[in-house]
Amino acid sequence: MTARVADHGHPRRWADNAIRLIEADARRSADTHLLRYPLPSAWAADADVALYLKDETTHITGSLKHRLARSLFLYGLCNGWIAEGTTVVEASSGSTAVSEAYFAALLGLPFVAVMPASTSASKVALIEAQGGRCHFVEHSADVYAEAERIAAESGGHYLDQFTNAERATDWRGNNNIAESIFSQLRDEAHPIPDWVVVGAGTGGTSATIGRYIRYRRHPTRLCVVDPERSAFYPAYEQCRSDVVIEESSRIEGIGRPRVEPSFLPDVVDRMVAVPDAASVATMRHVSAVLGRRVGASTGTNVWGAFGLLAEMVADGRSGSVVTVLADSGDRYADTYFCDDWVAQQGLDTAGPAAVLAGFERSCRFAFA
Ligand SMILES: Cc1ncc(COP(=O)(O)O)c(C=O)c1O
Repeated sequence: MTARVADHGHPRRWADNAIRLIEADARRSADTHLLRYPLPSAWAADADVALYLKDETTHITGSLKHRLARSLFLYGLCNGWIAEGTTVVEASSGSTAVSEAYFAALLGLPFVAVMPASTSASKVALIEAQGGRCHFVEHSADVYAEAERIAAESGGHYLDQFTNAERATDWRGNNNIAESIFSQLRDEAHPIPDWVVVGAGTGGTSATIGRYIRYRRHPTRLCVVDPERSAFYPAYEQCRSDVVIEESSRIEGIGRPRVEPSFLPDVVDRMVAVPDAASVATMRHVSAVLGRRVGASTGTNVWGAFGLLAEMVADGRSGSVVTVLADSGDRYADTYFCDDWVAQQGLDTAGPAAVLAGFERSCRFAFA
């Protein structure tokens, strides 16, 4: 009988070098800061609580998505899906594509970002400046099919952050965001936080943090904050996965029209639905306190964190809360920081601003 051998071995030199380039880039980069947020002086001296912001704006591409983009490229390379000349395609609301365009340029690969037409002009400029091509769709729910189609027609690879985010990230460690936060807290008064608060876009960040907390057997709880026009909160509340929302989220980076495969509700301890007006009011409040502009999703995150801190103080508990400063507000001068835009959207920030004033004065806070 003749020996039968099927040899599909692909040349690995290009991929080896691509992985080296990504690893070398990571080695030249520093970890992001964990900032201590200055809580209101009116009550903070009498309350033994602390709030930390993981400042993800200091990544080279300016947002939390830098971690995800690196992981998705490594996942594609190590799975043999990305090779020399592969056109890389992604469905994104903007920030992920900015970071992926950076890695595509690093590897000399063509990159196409499929995004909603509403994506901010500054993100489009950042993608194009790195040689990426932007392809727009009218409704954010259409990005997936369009990205898949473009990848199929070009013989390219669809990175598919919404499916692969939770699996491309090493949730046990490898300096993922959770491991970095816990190691940076080590010498603090309350090194194991009571809560970590994050939003969900793909759901990958919350999946990584939730799994890491369980793996390390920490008592920390994970709270996911969700904006209006997002499927995650109603799906979590009703224990469903088939919720679909017609309109697009107005808080860039978080909130999705469908329950993304990377969102893992079983590792989430609590969800809070945050009104968009509260996200914008808190974003402006935090920007004033820090003396630098933060993005709207940071407003969503901090609104959730303030509510949990108020709960802890009301219960007489001490401890810490961590949330994420996901991207800078500099990208949003024409939207969340523009009064006309906020008014056009019908967002009334007066109510949330009064809640924030109550938090400043006496640590009283109501989520509703
Ligand atoms: C701007 C922004 N993008 C993305 C995310 C979460 O991303 P993902 O769920 O894709 O990990 C957050 C979470 O706080 C965010 O604030």
